[in-house]
Amino acid sequence: MNLNKIGIFYFSGTGNTKIISKLFAEEFLKHDAKVELVAIEDVLNNRIPFNIDYDMIGFGHPVHAFSAPKIFFEFIENLPICNETPSFYFKTAGDPLCNGGDTYRIRKKLLRKGYQVFYESLFVMPSNILFQYEDELIKQLFLAAQRKIRKIVNQILGNQKSLQVNNSLLRIFSYLFSKAESYGGPYFGKYLYVTDTCNRCNLCIDNCPTKNIYCDNDEISFGDRCTFCMRCVYTCPSKSIKNKYMNFLIIKKGYNIKIAIENPSLKGNFVSDNTKGYFKHFYKYLFKN
Ligand SMILES: Cc1cc2nc3c(=O)[nH]c(=O)nc-3n(C[C@H](O)[C@H](O)[C@H](O)COP(=O)(O)O)c2cc1C
Repeated sequence: MNLNKIGIFYFSGTGNTKIISKLFAEEFLKHDAKVELVAIEDVLNNRIPFNIDYDMIGFGHPVHAFSAPKIFFEFIENLPICNETPSFYFKTAGDPLCNGGDTYRIRKKLLRKGYQVFYESLFVMPSNILFQYEDELIKQLFLAAQRKIRKIVNQILGNQKSLQVNNSLLRIFSYLFSKAESYGGPYFGKYLYVTDTCNRCNLCIDNCPTKNIYCDNDEISFGDRCTFCMRCVYTCPSKSIKNKYMNFLIIKKGYNIKIAIENPSLKGNFVSDNTKGYFKHFYKYLFKN
């Protein structure tokens, strides 16, 4: 495939999907194709114009409740119609079980707008909710993503088709979960609050992708447009953002996977063919695909 300019539109709450998007860009560059990375909140918030003038387009998002965050669906709704641009689509999830999920519904929406999705992939990355993954596993997932992207880019450039298969039960299940998350997201936001340790640095306000955080009369408040991405919670320098009812979802130590990824002493050998217990099913994702 002859490509001069590729655009990758991504949403990333806490950085995983951004890391994958950058890995794609680096790999395409090795094949002399230039990539523009576009954070979808920048187009939705009118910080940059909605340009779709690319030879190929990639779309990426984190999996939220087997589906995509609400902001990603808003993005697709606002996406201009194109003239059959070849497209690929990827998502990051905290667990390999999310292979499938709502892919079919999202593909259909993109196809309706003219984006000819021919390649879909899932990247398992550290979970940013509920469970804290071990550093060795974080490193292993990152190294696996690097490996997979090398192969996937070759396949994409070779025009190879790879679409995920979903059975109807999984489609219905994913749809219901996704609806629950769309309604639940704003509630998560509604019950966020800041503790006394907040020093009003306003980083959360600047970083929020849906502009859902305000400071009025020196009081930080949260509106009803939360997309449940957890960015404000984990980027708060004083860890002052808590949730009234759903604090158990927040990883206590915080979330910063760069520490593990950039640690050269980690070899990334957490899962092996001897692994038992919960992470056993990661083996197939890591070594068989
Ligand atoms: C609200 C919410 C729901 C999530 N739901 C799922 C899920 O259903 N399955 C899963 O494997 N991971 C789930 N995750 C984990 C994220 O998909 C995963 O950590 C992802 O890589 C985060 O990407 P990001 O850093 O680009 O936001 C969820 C995370 C959040 C915040």
